Parts: sequence; C-alpha cells; structure tokens
Amino acid sequence: MKVLGIESSCDETGVALYDTERGLLGHAVHTQVAMHEAYGGVVPELASRDHIRRLIPLLELVLTEASCTRLDIDAIAYTAGPGLAGALLVGASFAEALALALDVPALPVHHLEGHLLSPLLANQDEALDSDGTPTSGHQSTAKLSFPFVALLVSGGHTQLMRVARVGDYQLLGESLDDAAGEAFDKTAKLLGLGYPGGPALAKLAESGKPGRFKLPRPMLHSGDLSFSFSGLKTAVLTAARARKLSEADRADLAAEFQEAVTEVLAAKAVAACRQQRLSSLVVAGGVGANRRLRQRLDQAMAKIGGRVFYPALELCTDNGAMIAFAGSQRLLQGELPVPAQGAFVVRPRWPLDQVS
Ligand code: KG4
Ligand code: ZN
Repeated sequence: MKVLGIESSCDETGVALYDTERGLLGHAVHTQVAMHEAYGGVVPELASRDHIRRLIPLLELVLTEASCTRLDIDAIAYTAGPGLAGALLVGASFAEALALALDVPALPVHHLEGHLLSPLLANQDEALDSDGTPTSGHQSTAKLSFPFVALLVSGGHTQLMRVARVGDYQLLGESLDDAAGEAFDKTAKLLGLGYPGGPALAKLAESGKPGRFKLPRPMLHSGDLSFSFSGLKTAVLTAARARKLSEADRADLAAEFQEAVTEVLAAKAVAACRQQRLSSLVVAGGVGANRRLRQRLDQAMAKIGGRVFYPALELCTDNGAMIAFAGSQRLLQGELPVPAQGAFVVRPRWPLDQVS
C-alpha cells in the first residue's frame, strides 16, 4: 500500500510517498526559512501562499523519485493540525482534492503523532545513533517497540507522552509556558542571532563556556513532569542588560542557556521513564536535533539501562515522510479510512491525547 504524505502546518512544505512493503520511496521538503528570515519569524499569510506554490512541484518530484505515477497512490495522509490555520488549509484542501480526484481515502493526521512515530520509520531498517548514522556492529541494534516514552520538543510544544501503541497517547507532562524551541528562538533573538534561532544558538554555544553566567534550571526539582522556560529567557535578558556583551560573553551565555534547557529536558525525560517503568525513550521535534541534548539524554538513559531513539536527522524537522508513515500505521492498524468527501476540517489547536 502506497501512502502519500502532505505536511504544511508551518514553514516547511513536505511531500513523501511511503510504501508499507518497501519503505520510503520518495521524500522532498521545501523550507521557507529564507523567506521568513527578513521578518525574524514566520509570517502566516506568506507561509500559506508559499505552500500553494510548492505542493504540485514537490508532488511531481516525489513521484519521479519513486518511479510512480499519481495512479499508484492508495491513500493520502495530511497534517490536519495543530499549526497555522491558513497553512493547514492549503495542505488539507490539496490532499482532499487529490484524494477525491483519484478516488482514494484521505487521512487527517496529527502533526505531533507524525513526529513521535518518525523514529519507527528509520527503525524499519536499522537503529540510528544519536548523530543519525546507523549503529555499527559493536553497538546494540535493539529495535524500538511499544510502549515507550516520547519527548516532543519543537517550536510549539514541549511534552512528555506515554505511547502505548499507534493512536494511544497519554500526556505525562508539558511546558506551562514557552516551548523549548520557542525559548531557543527568543533567546537567540536577544543575543542578536538570526532566525531560526535554535540552530544558531547551538552553534554559538559550541565556542562558549557554560557556568560563567549562572542561569536557573526551572522546575528541575518540582517533583512532577512539567516544564517552564519563559523565566530562563527573562534571566538571559537581565544578564544581557547588566553589561555590554562581548562576543565571548554572548557565546558563554548561549552555552549556559543550552546547558540549562538540556539539563531540565534530560532530567524530566528520565524521570518519566522511571515513573512509567519504561526503558525506551523517543525524542522528536526540531530541538531533538540539538547535539548537547542528545549527548545528555544518551548518558542519562544509559545510567538507568535505557536507550534513546531518534529520527534520522533530516526527519527531525517537519516533513511529509512522518505524515505518510503515521497515516500508513493507522491504516495498518485497521482504522477505516473515510472516503474523500470534498469536506474537511483543520484543527489549529489539537491536543495529542485527544487524537483518537
Ligand atoms: O519540529 P520543528 O521543525 O517545527 C515545529 O515547531 O513543529 O521545530 C522547530 C524548532 C525551532 O524552535 C528551532 O529553533 C528548533 O526546533 N531547533 C533547534 C535546533 N534545531 C532546530 N533548537 C535547538 N538546537 C538545535 N540544533
Ligand atoms: Zn513539527
């Protein structure tokens, strides 16, 4: 069964074709980062218009890569939320219209479900190391299986979920204010870095020394699985206002910020695994690309005899492959697809534990 995946929830247009027998046949992403850079953040209207421009060329590209035609598509999965309403509508209307024309079912998919199942996509063939390369012979090539704990860390979400199986997600804890990625982006802005801030801040942190500036570890000892990152950003602002920052100061502040965020994320992820008595942790979402976070998680999980699973690096950020894969898993699980009817809804706000 070949499932086409369409992703357009924010500033990446993703199209992919996933075959339940042969794996990923084709996958292409167009990122709008350069377009939004001048504005310092995503401009929703520009995002929607660009998704319209990109979808058909990306579909053609993916079909060519897969050596398939539109008639080979058996079902179409698309991101129905959460995300920017206009951007979601573009992908949803494209997917539903194509499904209607091809007389195949259309499947609305939760964006975060796509993220958290994406390590299983890589896992189909081989396990991945934290740097995204396949594990070699001397390391364990243990496969990921249900149930597991998922740490979702993106620009819009910071959540710990218990994943019992496809479609069964229990929220264990989340951020009470800013998401981790949002904190990275806002702090990067304060330090005069470009957009998107996360990768830029992580790069600057490489040349800095943590500990010279002292930042709090919010809610580290709160005894629950909640997070809070907005105070951290304010602490960086206070430090930045206290003196004129040299280049070295900025790097040290970035390094300390990264230490603070990753320490809390790693500690709570391990606490969630202990609480749930589970030894597999999946990390998904854009912040999951952060090397320091991966290092800390690998070390902390190894200490409790556990293991961390990551999507391939190129599948950490938004893409159509994870949506095609999530849709295919729902179909394989026996979920009855609704035939395309020319009517659909998108859900800009959509808690993952309400997905089924
Ligand atoms: O999952 P994603 O691509 O989009 C959604 O938010 O759904 O995540 C984007 C977020 C942004 O906030 C970006 O700054 C952050 O992930 N990010 C990083 C890194 N790469 C991306 N944050 C820290 N370190 C990175 N290496
Ligand atoms: Zn995302």
